[in-house]
Amino acid sequence: MTDASNLTRDLLDALAWQIELGADEAIAETPADRFAESAAPAAPRVPDAAARVAPDARPGPEAKPRGDEEEATPAALARAAETLEELAEAMRGFEGSPLKRGARSFVFADGVPGARVMVIGEAPGGDEDRVGRPFVGRAGQLRDRMLAAIGLSRDAPAPEEAAYIANILPWRPPGNRTPSPEEVALFLPFIERHIELAKPDFILSVGNTPTKALLDTTTGIKRLRGRWVRHAATGLPLLPSFHPAYLLRSPADKRLAWRDLLALRAALEGAAVVLD
Ligand code: URA
Repeated sequence: MTDASNLTRDLLDALAWQIELGADEAIAETPADRFAESAAPAAPRVPDAAARVAPDARPGPEAKPRGDEEEATPAALARAAETLEELAEAMRGFEGSPLKRGARSFVFADGVPGARVMVIGEAPGGDEDRVGRPFVGRAGQLRDRMLAAIGLSRDAPAPEEAAYIANILPWRPPGNRTPSPEEVALFLPFIERHIELAKPDFILSVGNTPTKALLDTTTGIKRLRGRWVRHAATGLPLLPSFHPAYLLRSPADKRLAWRDLLALRAALEGAAVVLD
C-alpha cells in the first residue's frame, strides 16, 4: 500500500473513532483545544445583571466575583437572581458542568417572557447549539406547528397568544445524548427559578427528561402524559406531553399529543383544570 493510501486509511479510522465518541458535525475551520480552555482560569460565577436575556452564542461578560465560593451553587445562584436577565447571566457564568466546555452556545430561552404558557424541553440539540435558541431544529419546527394549531406562537406579542420556551439544560450534551440524572439534578434549581421568574399560568413539559425532573418521579411520559399535575416547586399546573422528536419517530402518537394540546387550549380559555 502507498503512503498516501495509508494516510487516508488512518484519517478515516480517526474519523470513525470520533463519530463513535459522539462527534456528529464539523463546525469550525480550525480545531478548538478544549483541554487548553479548561486549564484557563475559571470564569467568575456570579451574574452580571446588565447582560441581556436574549439567547446569545457569544461568551458572556465577566461576572462579579462574590468572594464566597461556597455560595456559587446552582441553588444559591438561582435564588440570587431577581430577573430573567440575572438568571441568564448566572447560568451562563456557572462553571460547574463540563457540558459548557463541549457546547458552542448557551441556550437560555426563546419566546415571550410573561406568556401564559411555558414549554419546557430537555436540552439543546445540534441545531439549537448552532443557533443559540431552543427548539429550532426539525423537532422544534413540529413543536411550533403544534402550538400554532392551538393559536400559540413564540413570536406573538400578546401574552395570551404567546409561548415561552426553555430547556432543563442550557448546554448541548455531546452527540445529543440524553442528559444523565446527575446533569439534570445539577441544573434543576435553575429551571425552577426560571419558571418562577417567567411567571406562566401553565407549564407544558415535553418528554421524559423534563417531566421526570420537574415532577421528581421515575414514571415515564407514556403513563404521565395528558393529565394535569401540580408542579411542587412553583405550585403551577403542569401538563406532561410527548417530546416532538418522539412524535417524529412515532407519528401515530400525534393524536394523543393533539388531545394534550386541546386540554391546554381549554385551560387557557378558562376551563377548570383538574389536578391529579
Ligand atoms: N429538544 C429539546 O428538548 N430541546 C431543544 O431545544 C431542542 C430539541
